Amino acid sequence: MDVLASGHEQVVFCADPESGLRAVIAIYSTALGPALGGTRFFPYASEEAAVTDALALSKAMAYKNSLAGLDLGGGKGVIIGDPAVHKTEALLRAYGRFVESLGGRYLTACDVGTYNADLDVVARETRFAHGRSLAHGGCGDSSVLTAFGVFQGMRAAAQHRWGSPSLAGRTVAVAGVGKVGSWLVDSLVEDGAAVVVTDVDPTAVQRVVAKHPGVRTAADTAELVRTPHDVYAPCALGGALDDETVAVLPAEIVCGGANNQLAHEGTAQLLADRGILYAPDYLVNAGGVIQVEDERHGFSFARAEAKATTIFDVALRVFAAADADGVSPRSPPTGSPRTGSGPSAGWRPSGCPVRAEIHLTPGRSDQPVRGTRGSDVCRAPIRDVSSSSDTITQSGSPHGPSKPSAGRPPLRNEGSSHGARPSEGQADTRGP
Ligand SMILES: NC(=O)c1ccc[n+]([C@@H]2O[C@H](COP(=O)([O-])OP(=O)(O)OC[C@H]3O[C@@H](n4cnc5c(N)ncnc54)[C@H](O)[C@@H]3O)[C@@H](O)[C@H]2O)c1
Repeated sequence: MDVLASGHEQVVFCADPESGLRAVIAIYSTALGPALGGTRFFPYASEEAAVTDALALSKAMAYKNSLAGLDLGGGKGVIIGDPAVHKTEALLRAYGRFVESLGGRYLTACDVGTYNADLDVVARETRFAHGRSLAHGGCGDSSVLTAFGVFQGMRAAAQHRWGSPSLAGRTVAVAGVGKVGSWLVDSLVEDGAAVVVTDVDPTAVQRVVAKHPGVRTAADTAELVRTPHDVYAPCALGGALDDETVAVLPAEIVCGGANNQLAHEGTAQLLADRGILYAPDYLVNAGGVIQVEDERHGFSFARAEAKATTIFDVALRVFAAADADGVSPRSPPTGSPRTGSGPSAGWRPSGCPVRAEIHLTPGRSDQPVRGTRGSDVCRAPIRDVSSSSDTITQSGSPHGPSKPSAGRPPLRNEGSSHGARPSEGQADTRGP
């Protein structure tokens, strides 16, 4: 592994023998602002595996943050160890001191294996820990706006494919009904969609069906992907879209919350070849990072929700740009004629055609440039909703939500009606 050739600005190894901390912090880019990305606590098989993950995840965060229109770069922290065994206050605080030592170049948050409550502990040592609990001035469970953003992306895909953003009368198959998936089901049912779900955890399925008796179930993902449906929503783990799945998928649209859905880079083309519209995961699941980022400004759920609403507009533009270019909304990341090498060529996060309009850092073809916002189509103006209620707000787009809050319970980032949802302080195992 050639870390210095990976394109990352900085990679920091952190060791604190006293607490047992072994961690890696990777900063891919700070071109748009401080590098935000959660901290993954995972029992990596080797130091090399941890570094590899940190490098890939931090780069993906740069894509996600810029596409979400946030003034943030991309970074990620990984702590090597089993969170159930090795997570202690001393270790988290030692980690917080390393984060602090970076002086704000890296902003951390939750990810797999870390919770809001853990970030509260990390924040005792650093000003740069976000994704904290509501009780500590944080944003709480980010899955709320993650699911909301996925719903916005799905509505945009429906608009693009069928000429109407409504999912009413469509069948949506949701694979994984944990935090994000179950919030998404709420929105879909509210919108009038028929929903079929599966989850490896039977209690997760039971919770959804108890709340929405009309929701149908599939025994497993293999059965789900063969069940007739219009939209497939992967909301469990990464790699859900493998060749076998894509080959049998009846859906016309794929739009879900899971990170890294494509099993390999060629999967985007396989989907396109079958005429399936793919809504890139890092575009539509950015609601969580939007929620976390808002914490920096004194958390306002209404403001974060309004920002997440813009995912609808950005997704529409991605789909239109992809059509115009004759590529998948998530075409391969390199080698595209549009990426070129001149200053007007585009930075394409994994080939997202929208970024073709963003200027490049001279000499770097894969980094956004600070101060080129005028051409940044992802930075849709955000409506001031500071005085609005916590209900979903209409975006500025003519294609905005068809019925922003009609008949729909307000989305709130607090004690939810989802029976077994973790308490606010224990929420968010996945992070943005
Ligand atoms: N929570 C967030 O804010 C957020 C933000 C961005 C992306 N994501 C991504 O969204 C996905 C879901 O996150 P979450 O927070 O809802 O996690 P979660 O753990 O609450 O839910 C995941 C669900 O998927 C189920 N599952 C696991 N493997 C499965 C399989 N093979 N088939 C069917 N179901 C399976 C689990 O039982 C669980 O119920 C993850 O990929 C995560 O990285 C989450």
